[in-house]
Amino acid sequence: MHEIAINNIKYEGLETETILEAGLSNDVYIAHSCKSGRCNSCRCKVLSGETKLISPELGLNDEEREEGWILSCVRSPLSSLKISCDDVLDRAVPEVKLCPARIDSLQLLTKDVLQVTLRLPPSSKLDFYPGQYIDVLAFGLSRSYSIANAPRVDSKITLIIKRVPDGRFSEYWFDQAKENDLLRIKGPYGTFFLRETQTNKLVFFATGTGIAPIKAMLEARLLDNDSPMGDVKVLWGNRYRDDFFELGFSDMSDMSGINLIKCVSREDADPAFKSGYIQDVFLADDKQMLSDTALYACGSSEMIAASEQKMRAMGHPAKQFFKDAFVASGGGEEL
Ligand SMILES: Cc1cc2nc3c(=O)[nH]c(=O)nc-3n(C[C@H](O)[C@H](O)[C@H](O)COP(=O)(O)OP(=O)(O)OC[C@H]3O[C@@H](n4cnc5c(N)ncnc54)[C@H](O)[C@@H]3O)c2cc1C
Ligand code: FES
Repeated sequence: MHEIAINNIKYEGLETETILEAGLSNDVYIAHSCKSGRCNSCRCKVLSGETKLISPELGLNDEEREEGWILSCVRSPLSSLKISCDDVLDRAVPEVKLCPARIDSLQLLTKDVLQVTLRLPPSSKLDFYPGQYIDVLAFGLSRSYSIANAPRVDSKITLIIKRVPDGRFSEYWFDQAKENDLLRIKGPYGTFFLRETQTNKLVFFATGTGIAPIKAMLEARLLDNDSPMGDVKVLWGNRYRDDFFELGFSDMSDMSGINLIKCVSREDADPAFKSGYIQDVFLADDKQMLSDTALYACGSSEMIAASEQKMRAMGHPAKQFFKDAFVASGGGEEL
């Protein structure tokens, strides 16, 4: 057993468990998502002590390595450790459960985006924070998908799934799945949900189906009469106009406080769409509101890395940047 001190919170960890796992079992919630060294959400800096690498730290770049950053989901303690982390949560996350789920409905939203609604048995209920994700388990494999809705009275869960060419689960979802198919789901996972921050200015960056957890957060906020919507800007990027789909709100941009900006990276701008990468479109308009803005980014790891770097260079505080990268599910074996 080794003592781990993270931002001066102390807990004990074994050499056989990761720093993240040991934290979670001691109610210390380091921000995380993929738990497989790919997304960078669980980044921590080692101030003193030795760690052991358990699997590759694919989510770190060379500069971060040189600066002493590690990914706490793939490293275990080899001695007492002192580490710092930009994002340790001040509240517990809901309990992870494994439950059966049947496909309630399937709806094609674009030629390669499918909306899947799952229903749970009446005896099962999955508590989650809007923005979290679940693992779907089938054929001895597991894949992660964000829950795209706020918690519902009927406990149904909606996923928004993009077809990945030659993807094992993509083939199932798009070519074989049918209503009433029985699957298993496990979760909720991740820490991509609305945080208590000092600011009411919220900016969301999404690429592709990365809009799913953001839709869940906004839906929950719209349904919650006690939390004012605040000043909310959503920048949603896709390559082409045809890649966009309805979000299920009658018209999000008409909802009080939400400004939805759709960006296309491979077509020209027109009155309904801006042209360019979302982070560039945002910065072209909004440099002055950066320091007091909480920014939530979800989708491709390229967009997230580029956004984080640009926002940081413009003075946006690291503690107000929350991210969820849709990296390939690590290994993907059923847990
Ligand atoms: C926390 C988290 C949440 C996620 N939420 C969603 C979601 O809400 N909606 C959604 O559509 N997807 C989401 N994903 C991605 C999803 O888990 C799968 O990785 C993806 O759907 C591909 O699975 P597959 O079995 O079809 O492809 P696989 O058989 O796993 O892969 C086939 C090939 O595609 C590559 N590949 C796999 N996934 C990706 C990817 N995401 N980007 C680029 N290349 C890839 C693989 O490296 C491989 O070469 C999420 C991932 C994570 C980690
Ligand atoms: S890299 Fe650790 S949670 Fe994704």
